[in-house]
Amino acid sequence: MQLTPEQEVMVRDGTPAQATAMRILLALGKIYEADRLLPITSAHIAGASFKTVGEAGRAFIEEFSRTAGVKVRTTVNPIGMDENSWRDVGIPEEFAAQQRRILEAYRRMGVEESWSCTPYLIGNRPGRGEHVAWAESSAVIVANSLLGARTNREGGPSALAAAVTGWTPNYGLHLEGGRRATVQVEVEGEVRGYEYGLLGLHMGKVLGEGIPYLRGVRPTADEAKALAAALGAVSEVAMFHIEDQTPEWREAEPGGLERISVTRRELVAARDAYTNTEDVDLIVFGCPQVSGPELAEISDLLSQTNPGKEVWVFTSRRVASENPEVVKSIRAHGGRVILDTCPEVTPLELFARASGTPSGKGAVYLPTLCRQRVLLDEAANLVRRFR
Ligand code: F3S
Repeated sequence: MQLTPEQEVMVRDGTPAQATAMRILLALGKIYEADRLLPITSAHIAGASFKTVGEAGRAFIEEFSRTAGVKVRTTVNPIGMDENSWRDVGIPEEFAAQQRRILEAYRRMGVEESWSCTPYLIGNRPGRGEHVAWAESSAVIVANSLLGARTNREGGPSALAAAVTGWTPNYGLHLEGGRRATVQVEVEGEVRGYEYGLLGLHMGKVLGEGIPYLRGVRPTADEAKALAAALGAVSEVAMFHIEDQTPEWREAEPGGLERISVTRRELVAARDAYTNTEDVDLIVFGCPQVSGPELAEISDLLSQTNPGKEVWVFTSRRVASENPEVVKSIRAHGGRVILDTCPEVTPLELFARASGTPSGKGAVYLPTLCRQRVLLDEAANLVRRFR
């Protein structure tokens, strides 16, 4: 890989953290045969919850942060608790203490206080053709597919390395040729709302990887977010095209590719495959963290119906602060609005054994990360079902 003089200096004379970061980027570049390191305009880091990184991860981040600062705009995925209301929820002191040390380390590095898996909803919204280095599969798919920005599906360490150097190896989805469709997907019948998560679950299982070119759907921004999250949860896919909709569909070149079709029956089968309970302790919204319009929808549902179960709504502090009246209304109707964290990276297993969710990605991770039985259904059904 050809390095610039500035990059050579960082390899040779960088701080310990910068040297580690360069080693990670050079190793990746070698594996994927990148010709150079590209400058990026933003990074998004995952691996910030004590629940998922553990003591070893906390120790690494703390040590790393002593000799590193981010060089580009950097947002960070949800942490393990709401920084302001963790005591009210019942998060254990020891967990909170460990989590605070991780927060301090990220703050030392100069990241934005985002704690969100929806960076594109809170100002980190790169434009078409911009090179970025993002972790968090759902956000990666949104960035590539809906914004036309360019990022590979980074892991926690490689996104962190990119953030503190400002560079990422030039391969995969950074290249024009790496962004073409690899398979055509014809969706039969109308798909709405949470069903986009079912579509993501089904497509991800069938495809495993590649770049699907979809026909027959026209999702809203929130529906596309649900599709991206579910698809990323069960496959290696990092981008899709939608005919007549996404920014690069004209360059996708789907002609001649294998064609698969998706029917309504397969969406129902995806829901059934991820549902293993009829009763729940909790209804959870926010995987990915909910947007402003989703907050409003939940508020409307709760104002019409007492759901008969606890309702926890996960969103970012920025989205909550932009929608104060809606947040107030959800709380007034008995819902809990929790910031900075998410259903899966908070220790939800301490509070519930079975959860209802409209999220396809949630249905994948609630059992594995939170030991939950799951009821996967649309928001309105979940809220009305137990009243
Ligand atoms: Fe976000 Fe947590 Fe889901 S990070 S996409 S809400 S698993």
